[in-house]
Amino acid sequence: MPATSVIGLQWGDEAKGKIVDLLTEQHEIVIRYQGGNNAGHTVKFDGKTYKLSLLPTGILQSHVKSVIAPGVVIDPRAFLKELDALIAGGEDCADRMMISDRAHVICPWHLLEEAALEASRGGSAIGTTMRGIGTCYREKVGRFHAIRIGDLIQKDAFAEKVREIVPFKQNILNTLNPDGAQMDADQIIDEYSGCADRLRPMVADTTAYLLDALESGKKLLFEGAQGCLLDVDHGTFPYVTSSNSSGCGIHSGSGVPARAIGNMIGVAKAYTTRVGGGPFPTELDNEIGQKIRDAGNEYGTVTGRPRRCGWLDTVATRYSARISGVDSVVIALLDVLSGFEELNICEAYDINGKVTRDLPSRCEDLAIAKPVLRRIAGWSEDITNVRRFEDLPVAAQEYVKVAAELIGRPVSIVSVGPDREQTIHIAS
Ligand code: IMP
Repeated sequence: MPATSVIGLQWGDEAKGKIVDLLTEQHEIVIRYQGGNNAGHTVKFDGKTYKLSLLPTGILQSHVKSVIAPGVVIDPRAFLKELDALIAGGEDCADRMMISDRAHVICPWHLLEEAALEASRGGSAIGTTMRGIGTCYREKVGRFHAIRIGDLIQKDAFAEKVREIVPFKQNILNTLNPDGAQMDADQIIDEYSGCADRLRPMVADTTAYLLDALESGKKLLFEGAQGCLLDVDHGTFPYVTSSNSSGCGIHSGSGVPARAIGNMIGVAKAYTTRVGGGPFPTELDNEIGQKIRDAGNEYGTVTGRPRRCGWLDTVATRYSARISGVDSVVIALLDVLSGFEELNICEAYDINGKVTRDLPSRCEDLAIAKPVLRRIAGWSEDITNVRRFEDLPVAAQEYVKVAAELIGRPVSIVSVGPDREQTIHIAS
């Protein structure tokens, strides 16, 4: 089977970008299939650091075609800003980019409505990235006011849709916030039509392209955004994103059948982080959490928000690995845990006296889950220069072995730093 996929096993930010970048060399097409510019990945390539959000990580390598598939929501302005930053940095990559005509377009009213809705939720706000992701997906599922990339590039049809939608949305926005912004349909049409002129050469039927590529034996790499626990159906609802960010989203988002995936790689940090609201049983809202945040530079790539930090939660990662059919696991950022006398891994939850290894479906239950922790000795050595598993301190080896046993999947890679070389491959 030619297709490989990389997905996050936690609440996003698992360092998937580095793993996708490592694997890109052996692939010909890299595909983003869900989410939008809410994602953020940092990639080190040719001595430079790139922060990507909507563009697939493959965009940095000239032998690769990068595809944005139907399941992604696209803010054309954000897309072009990111592309232009790469072009300005010497990456002539526009002709390697392909965008599905079926993907949906994020419009200004999506951002305005999301801001108003989040503000109205007060303390129970989801803590979204404010990129209009959820409001755009809602329009797609509702169908009435949705605009796809295929519509955007039809000048007259697009203008007609905007003129129809803007007054309707303005009414809703005025109700939510009478002092809020007033939209100007003509200005939106002008701005988006300008974007459309630049996008047009990249727009294609990516589904047909990917199916043909698969049949001709090309090697496909699917790049997940966010993590399984943020999946709208299988994650910690309602504190989730609006797409299927687990392995379940690959097929619906790309149009490529499930059985085409031959290798499903799940990435988990050696600890856990979460941005935004929602329950987090192993959270360390104390100096240990702060130590992890500082050592791991745990601040959002997209929003800059400090990430909440906690112990590795194998109830959650095991669940993610099982629902996504993960073959092997990457343990990322193990180096961040150097210098702790003692570490903990969560192996079960105690919910009102009932011990379970299953992730509860209700957030209310997850919020009261007490982590059952397994204590593991720490290590003091800097491990960023280690390249073989057997050269890791014994305690670090033990940590990885326990994680693998509790997640229930073999570990194929341990990452000990952001650079490509800072990678330990483990033969199965
Ligand atoms: P949205 O995707 O902007 O609607 O945000 C919904 C939730 O998903 C919020 O808690 C965000 O912080 C979280 N989220 C969205 N994208 C990412 C990501 O790439 N990494 C981590 N968290 C994310």
